[in-house]
Formats: sequence, C-alpha cells, structure tokens
Amino acid sequence: MTTPTKLLLLNSSILGDNGQSRGLAEHFKRRLAARGDVQVTERDLVAEALPHLDGTELASWMVAEDERDAEQRELAARSEAALAELFDHDVLVLAVPLYNLGIPTQLKAWFDRVLRAGKTFRYTENGPQGLVEGKRAIVLTARGGQYAGTALDSQTPHLTHMLGLMGITEVDFVYAEGLAMGDRHREASIGEARQAIDGLVARL
Ligand SMILES: Cc1cc2nc3c(=O)[nH]c(=O)nc-3n(C[C@H](O)[C@H](O)[C@H](O)COP(=O)(O)O)c2cc1C
Repeated sequence: MTTPTKLLLLNSSILGDNGQSRGLAEHFKRRLAARGDVQVTERDLVAEALPHLDGTELASWMVAEDERDAEQRELAARSEAALAELFDHDVLVLAVPLYNLGIPTQLKAWFDRVLRAGKTFRYTENGPQGLVEGKRAIVLTARGGQYAGTALDSQTPHLTHMLGLMGITEVDFVYAEGLAMGDRHREASIGEARQAIDGLVARL
C-alpha cells in the first residue's frame, strides 16, 4: 500500500462558511476526496485564532525546554504545535482572503509561529537558508478587486517570500478576483479558479 500524501489546509476567512476562499477550499477538498489518496488536516485559523506574537512569547522560545516555567511552556507550545504540524505534512494549502490589501492577521499570526530561525530557516554567510524540505504549497486567494500581476498585489510576493524563507519554493497561486465586481464577473472568476484547482489536484 502506498503512503497517502498528507495535506494541511489552513482557512483564514473571517466570514466562516460564507467566505469565498472557504468555498474554493471546499471545492479543493471535494476533488481530493474523489482521488482518495490524500489525507487532509484542516484548520480554521480564525475559529482557533492565535494571538499576536509578543515579546513574552518570543522570550519563551529562548529558554531551554527543561528550564521553562508553566507560562513559558504554554506560550512556547503555540509555536511548537504549529511547527510540528507543518513538518508533519507534505502539502500546505492556504485559503487566503484579501483584507485591506493584505493577508488576514490570523494567517500572519500563524506565520509568526512557524517562521523561526533555527527551526524553519537558518542564517548563513550567503543569507538565509530554508530548512523545510520536500514540501510544496498551494494558495487559494479570494479578492473583491483585481490585483494579480499588478504592483498592488501585495499578497503574492509576501506569501512567496515567507514560504521561500522556509524553503518552500514550489508554490502555486489560484486567483478568484473581482468578487465584488458584479455577479457575472464573480461567477466567471470562481469558475476559472475551480478549473485551476482541478488541474492542481490532478497533478498533486
Ligand atoms: C475587512 C475586509 C477588507 C477587505 N479589503 C479588500 C481590499 O483591500 N481589496 C479588495 O479587493 N477586496 C477587499 N475585501 C473584499 C474581499 O477580498 C472579498 O470579500 C473576498 O471574498 C474575501 O475572502 P473571503 O470571502 O474568503 O473572506 C475586503 C473584505 C473585507 C471583509
């Protein structure tokens, strides 16, 4: 028997089941289910929101594991759980709404827990080197307006660089754009995004 591919799906819409990025993620899951050889772990980063990273939590990472007090253990566990889950999967799928020209703060809070020197990347004389090997990522974006390919698309470079810092350089983006630009536009755009998802699932 072949080992199933393990896929970690992270939702970050504040609109829950009504989120368009969640709709894309659901389509993705339906297509995966038809394949039957991919095991999905799904997280809702809004329902299980991590707080903003602060200095006290950051300091807990610097204390040796066996020297942490109860509070430091609890704080360090946030990042450790996110890291363990990331390393335990083969494919990372991010369902990403565009809010105020950026990624949701809840998703940023997740990246703040996994982008850690010595854990997911290290500094070398030649610059940072990613330590997360053999993984790929797929980003499903949902946007009210149209930005892909323009200087106003802040998400694509930001996510590409954060994933790349960890060593995840194989990244595919699916764009559902113009969702606030009328029904016809929205439906066409979602249809195209779903087709792009079908192609990606077929090549997983
Ligand atoms: C708080 C908020 C901020 C938004 N900011 C933008 C924006 O800056 N640009 C844009 O094109 N659409 C913006 N939108 C529209 C969203 O991108 C659109 O509703 C998209 O479907 C969000 O993904 P979701 O449905 O998965 O939550 C915003 C929506 C919300 C709720």
